[in-house]
Amino acid sequence: TVVCGGGCYGVAGIMPLARALKEAGNKVICINEASSSYLVYWEDELRQVCDEMIVVTKDGSQGIKGGVQEVISSLVARGEEIDQAFIVGCTFMMMLVCDTTKELGISTQTALNPIMVDGTGMCGACRVDVGGKTKFICVDGPFVDGHQVDWPELMHRRAAYGREEREALPQDHNHHCRHA
Ligand code: FES
Repeated sequence: TVVCGGGCYGVAGIMPLARALKEAGNKVICINEASSSYLVYWEDELRQVCDEMIVVTKDGSQGIKGGVQEVISSLVARGEEIDQAFIVGCTFMMMLVCDTTKELGISTQTALNPIMVDGTGMCGACRVDVGGKTKFICVDGPFVDGHQVDWPELMHRRAAYGREEREALPQDHNHHCRHA
């Protein structure tokens, strides 16, 4: 029994994975996470490549309220014996899920998305500590054992250009903040 959990763009990421796992004879449960109902996509598409598809939203506007980690806990509570989890989403989401699956003893592979520059294993921008070893995710990943990832370090490195990323967003020059 395999759980494929996707959040935001990660929902698309788990689609080919779920399809291949199902074709290989596994029981596949997909979890489709979004912040709110208007951001849920590919429900029908995902349903076609798995045995069960569960929608979960952060605000509870559709499906279960919470995140992938809450759904996995409820699956275990109902007696599912999960052999493997694959999680694709933002770094924070994957960290939360891994905290839960570690406690539950469920092997978990996560598709990391550190900042990448050359994508050939030369620059070192994408380096992540996995089990005390340096991995270059562009060539060693994207999937690694989520229970071995140094999540705080990864989040810190991902935020390195946060100010520049915000500045690069389109600015609304007609907007005057009333709270200034
Ligand atoms: Fe440069 Fe991976 S992006 S080493």
